[in-house]
Amino acid sequence: MSPLVVRTVADLRAVVAGWKAAGERVGVVPTMGALHEGHLSLVQAAKRGADRVIVTIFVNPKQFNNPADLEKYPRTEETDAALLAPFGVDLIFAPMPDEVYPQGFASTVSVAGISDALCGAHRPGHFDGVATVVTKLFLQTLADSAYFGEKDWQQLQVVRRLVADLNVPVTVVGCPTVREADGLALSSRNQRLTGEERALAPALPRAMRDAAARICAGQTASVALAAARTAILSAGFREVEYLELRGAQDLVMMDHADRPAHIFAAAWLGDVRLIDNMDVRPA
Ligand code: PAJ
Repeated sequence: MSPLVVRTVADLRAVVAGWKAAGERVGVVPTMGALHEGHLSLVQAAKRGADRVIVTIFVNPKQFNNPADLEKYPRTEETDAALLAPFGVDLIFAPMPDEVYPQGFASTVSVAGISDALCGAHRPGHFDGVATVVTKLFLQTLADSAYFGEKDWQQLQVVRRLVADLNVPVTVVGCPTVREADGLALSSRNQRLTGEERALAPALPRAMRDAAARICAGQTASVALAAARTAILSAGFREVEYLELRGAQDLVMMDHADRPAHIFAAAWLGDVRLIDNMDVRPA
């Protein structure tokens, strides 16, 4: 059955109140639409963990530091609704920007520290935008559990931090990155790659995996990641924005994987920015 589409917080609250009165647990999957198998894996996790599932679709202007990027972001609500239909999603919350940010809106949720590095350093204001909208979505949906992809590892840590700091009564569930057969992490941005770019895109995860193996074998991150950077650029990427080994939870820079760590990368293929991360598990 097609999910109910709701556009206002008042309507959303009315539906959720009925579910809560019946003792049902509510799960939310926040998205910006242009749904793919990665998003659908979160929906499946939500179905396992909750009685009612809400998918939110909102291209959040506050998290785009570049107006052209916001403009170009794919908006495919009808296809998204059709994709969700077989999964037993109860409700799609797809508000208009004025409903989320009415005239006079003046508050920001800002998570210090974790937001500063990596994507935060290269996209000023991005994580404030994410933290603000995610806090609003938690309060609007009053969900008991919320599902986020490990694909956006830094975002997941920002969300975990704000939930702990602000005593938000929601359980955050991280879900593994879904990849294509050739290793490329699924992303709404992959649609914008040309055929040729798509063919060389897996060079990014391949170089990251090689570097992870070398670091596990005792090589320093500086040496292993320098080789990975060369491999990514010689495959045809235009620019490597960052490529770093950092602590899995605190995102502090590391040179040896002497505790749980991830390799984080952002790189430009033509005019598309791809991000990925991989865990490094010392033997
Ligand atoms: P969006 O990019 O649409 O992603 C929505 C959710 O899907 C995020 O939790 C993201 O990590 C997850 N996801 C994306 N690609 C994935 C993949 N290949 N495997 C597993 N999960 C994947 O992230 C956002 O939207 C926004 O910042 C949002 C949290 C909705 C706030 O606006």
